[in-house]
Amino acid sequence: MSLRSAPLAVEAPERARDGLFTPEIRAQIDAHVAKYPPEWKQSAVMPALTLVQEWNGGWLTRELMDDVAAYLDMPPVAVYEVATFYGMYDLEPVGRHKIGVCNSVSCLLCGSEDLIHHVERKYGVRPGETTADGRFTFKEVECLGACRHAPAVLVGKTYHECLTPEALDKLIEELD
Ligand code: FES
Repeated sequence: MSLRSAPLAVEAPERARDGLFTPEIRAQIDAHVAKYPPEWKQSAVMPALTLVQEWNGGWLTRELMDDVAAYLDMPPVAVYEVATFYGMYDLEPVGRHKIGVCNSVSCLLCGSEDLIHHVERKYGVRPGETTADGRFTFKEVECLGACRHAPAVLVGKTYHECLTPEALDKLIEELD
């Protein structure tokens, strides 16, 4: 059976229409849904999760994932699979900022382990943890697609390349 012949349609509860999403969020999700054939609205799941996560302060609750599933006529488990597979989604409360240090091979060869150990020592957080002051959540992430300028770090939505521990400190100092 091809993927095209097997849309993951389920009954959409009314709650998703009037639930936790604001009209603005729904409109933005609808704009992504409109890019796909009606029977493939679940193709918008990643931007939908991104929008809802940003609206919720940087992380996804199970209830929000369920609402995304209902809104896109998907089984909730299919949304959980996406949210748990990709590193940009967080399922627990996060700090005011997110810092993701790439731990894939090019960056490892170019010093990302030094960056990770530096952050652990200086700021007292291990990957997956948030600083005590709530300033940032520290993450190890898979290849950011910036291998040519390794090591790469994602601060919020901004890529930073060829970073040293000192350069990373400067970025962190600029965060509120
Ligand atoms: S390996 Fe780090 S950006 Fe690709």
